[in-house]
Amino acid sequence: MKETDKEPFFIKEIREQPKVLANTLTKYLGPNLYLKMTRPPLDEATLRGVNQVYITACGTSYHAGMTARYIFEELSQLPTVVEPASEAGRHHLLVDDKTLAVAVSQSGRSSDTLSALNLAKARGAVTLALVNDSPSPLTEAASGYLMTLAGQVFTLSSTKAFTSQTLVLGLLAFRLAQSRGLMKEPWRQELENLGRVPEMVRYVLALEDRVALMAKALANYEQVFILARGALLPMAYEGALKLKEVAHFHAEGYSTGEFGHGPLGLVGPRSPIILIAFADEAGSSTLALARSLKARGAPLWLISEDGPKKDLALSSLADDFFPLPAVQPRLRPMVAIIPLQLLAYHLGRLRRVDVDNPGGLLGGEDWVQPDKSH
Ligand code: F6R
Repeated sequence: MKETDKEPFFIKEIREQPKVLANTLTKYLGPNLYLKMTRPPLDEATLRGVNQVYITACGTSYHAGMTARYIFEELSQLPTVVEPASEAGRHHLLVDDKTLAVAVSQSGRSSDTLSALNLAKARGAVTLALVNDSPSPLTEAASGYLMTLAGQVFTLSSTKAFTSQTLVLGLLAFRLAQSRGLMKEPWRQELENLGRVPEMVRYVLALEDRVALMAKALANYEQVFILARGALLPMAYEGALKLKEVAHFHAEGYSTGEFGHGPLGLVGPRSPIILIAFADEAGSSTLALARSLKARGAPLWLISEDGPKKDLALSSLADDFFPLPAVQPRLRPMVAIIPLQLLAYHLGRLRRVDVDNPGGLLGGEDWVQPDKSH
């Protein structure tokens, strides 16, 4: 699709993602694949001493944190809890001076995220802010901070900051593994392969016309379920959030494995399903669910890898197939979210929503305002 000056910022920001991801990699990946960190005191000794990770954020930033949990647990072998910042003060928060508390926020100003970070800090946690805007209340409050390099953001619906957050959190997990002496040779190869992510995102962006057709088809319905599992499940939540927010369309993200425990009862010819699944992780239960969805007459759209590793059983059941390029499993979330962001944009346009100002946020009222005295 051709870019024009008159296009909404929302789509411009979606299309900026390859550049943003490439800049992020340049900033954080040093020589010999050493992962650089901004501001100390998150030095080696601090990182080595950590025995659990607590990630907190709101909305889209929370979804980036949810995906990061999988990589933190596997690579850095640290128990990782992720929770919406608005819940942090509503239970007994079990963090201490061996906890790395990471607050993720595009703006650095969401008041719930700031409160959650301060709560963790008061309990002694080592605090780290991951923001796109500095100085901001979160960077002032945290003991260290990392930046996403999304550049200036003109629309409140986060897209480029989201993929950048996902990437930086992934790099942080690698960095913790490095500091804790857990780095494995195949992971170094993965770090090298990270360089291909911007190109893979560009590949998916080039398929925008296909997503536009999907949006046209979806416009004939009133709701959609987006299903995924593992580290891709937060992408289903995020895709559904974008559809609700930007297209004013009822969408629910749901775990593929949980869907057969009740929600399946809602499925029929008027309830299209978008299934994100890959041959190497789908398994027989996903196939059984897909068969059941088809038996109930649901339109089934599959987002999955194309090429030699294409899931033939699932794709033969699907009414439409959106092809993703082959990337390592840990990199899939950043690529799989792109068609859903584009879908929200095209459906929003078809439904005549002002996609730059869709009105689903508290209009920044819950933001901590910048301190003008700086
Ligand atoms: C949705 C969206 C919001 C924000 C949330 C947190 O598209 O952008 O859900 O992610 O309000 O904002 P930040 O990241 O600035 O703390």
